[in-house]
Amino acid sequence: MKAVVYEGPNKVSVKDVPDARIERPTDVLVRITATNICGSDLHMYEGRTDFEQGRWFGHENMGEVIEVGGAVQKVVVGDRVVLPFNVACGYCKNCERGLTNYCMTAQPVKEWAGAAYGFADMGPWAGGQAELLRVPWGDFNCLRLGEDADERSSDYVMLADIFPTGYHATEMAGVSPGDQTVIYGAGPVGLMAALSATIRGASKVMVVDRHPDRLRLAESIGAIAIDDSKVDPVDAVLEETMGLGADNGCECVGYQAHDPQGVEHPNETLNRLVRSVRFTGTIGTVGVFIPQDPGAHDELAKEGQIAFDFGLHWFKGQRMGTGQAPVKRYNRQLRDLIAAGKATPSFIVSHELPLDDAPDAYEHFDNRDDGWTKVVLRPGDSS
Ligand SMILES: NC(=O)c1ccc[n+]([C@@H]2O[C@H](COP(=O)([O-])OP(=O)(O)OC[C@H]3O[C@@H](n4cnc5c(N)ncnc54)[C@H](O)[C@@H]3O)[C@@H](O)[C@H]2O)c1
Ligand SMILES: [Zn+2]
Ligand SMILES: [Zn+2]
Repeated sequence: MKAVVYEGPNKVSVKDVPDARIERPTDVLVRITATNICGSDLHMYEGRTDFEQGRWFGHENMGEVIEVGGAVQKVVVGDRVVLPFNVACGYCKNCERGLTNYCMTAQPVKEWAGAAYGFADMGPWAGGQAELLRVPWGDFNCLRLGEDADERSSDYVMLADIFPTGYHATEMAGVSPGDQTVIYGAGPVGLMAALSATIRGASKVMVVDRHPDRLRLAESIGAIAIDDSKVDPVDAVLEETMGLGADNGCECVGYQAHDPQGVEHPNETLNRLVRSVRFTGTIGTVGVFIPQDPGAHDELAKEGQIAFDFGLHWFKGQRMGTGQAPVKRYNRQLRDLIAAGKATPSFIVSHELPLDDAPDAYEHFDNRDDGWTKVVLRPGDSS
């Protein structure tokens, strides 16, 4: 089968690799029909993780079931399914509590938890930017779709990661009806957080970024765009909230946060959130931060540490939630919002391309080139 193989920093190529296949009786084999490029792939693509050369990416996957293992009971050949990016067993201590983001079975390092397809430090699972994907614990991990699976595939594929992840940011931030919410980052995840805050009834959603195309998408769903290359975003949020600050905030950028000139400041969004969110407010951090970052420019960040304004965070009595999103906690309900026409996450999609175009697409998306807001790869299509 063909797959998008990581060749080293800033290089992927579409190559033949061994076919994915059923390896255990609980596996399901999926022919991929849609697989997205994610901001998380870019941390790996840029060589800022220890993702191994020769492996392939792809954790935002959907497709058609073409084979099931002997112990699979619910999922059948022909089902259209979307797969949470988290690989999870369903029976470990964390999965039992719904914390499939920290599965202890799918992560082979005993001291760690959490697994994903085609992801650094998240287990051996192959990615889905390929023609075929092996889905372990298939009955648990497959979310089945209805008859509109093809017609709305660019909406449903967002259920693999970014729509539930954006939702999780607002859940951790406790966004409630009437709230004023600020979101740092208008990438796909930030835009999904903005959509989710709106679904949860926020009265005002403010989104901070500096890319006009992304900020326009935020405005298209009724959010207030704040361009941090033109104004101080903290001042802008305070002005919008009678000087009090937002009720809650979402971090949707991560450790490669940078200024509009491109210089990285891994603490910038978190410290700005502390200042943008009111006393007793809550922050949900889904942007990725990592324990070691050898590619960082400053010594602290190399050790995964940042100069966080903890004093002000504490003084304001704020709370913060962090980590990978437990996609399975939300994907069914969000699927039903899409099916009912009440959520259209595909508004962020700028490109739907065949797998062969992946190297070019990675380059444009990584540069955050104008108009490249979200790429869906379609392995079934030819260039
Ligand atoms: N927790 C999870 O489960 C989970 C899931 C998916 C993605 N993520 C992470 O979420 C983050 C965002 O993902 P994405 O796909 O939207 O990525 P992306 O890189 O496309 O978007 C990030 C956006 O942040 C903006 N940005 C950079 N520095 C900024 C700053 N200082 N202030 C404001 N905006 C700034 C960029 O201009 C860009 O538009 C990444 O770190 C990704 O790894 C986490
Ligand atoms: Zn993703
Ligand atoms: Zn588990």
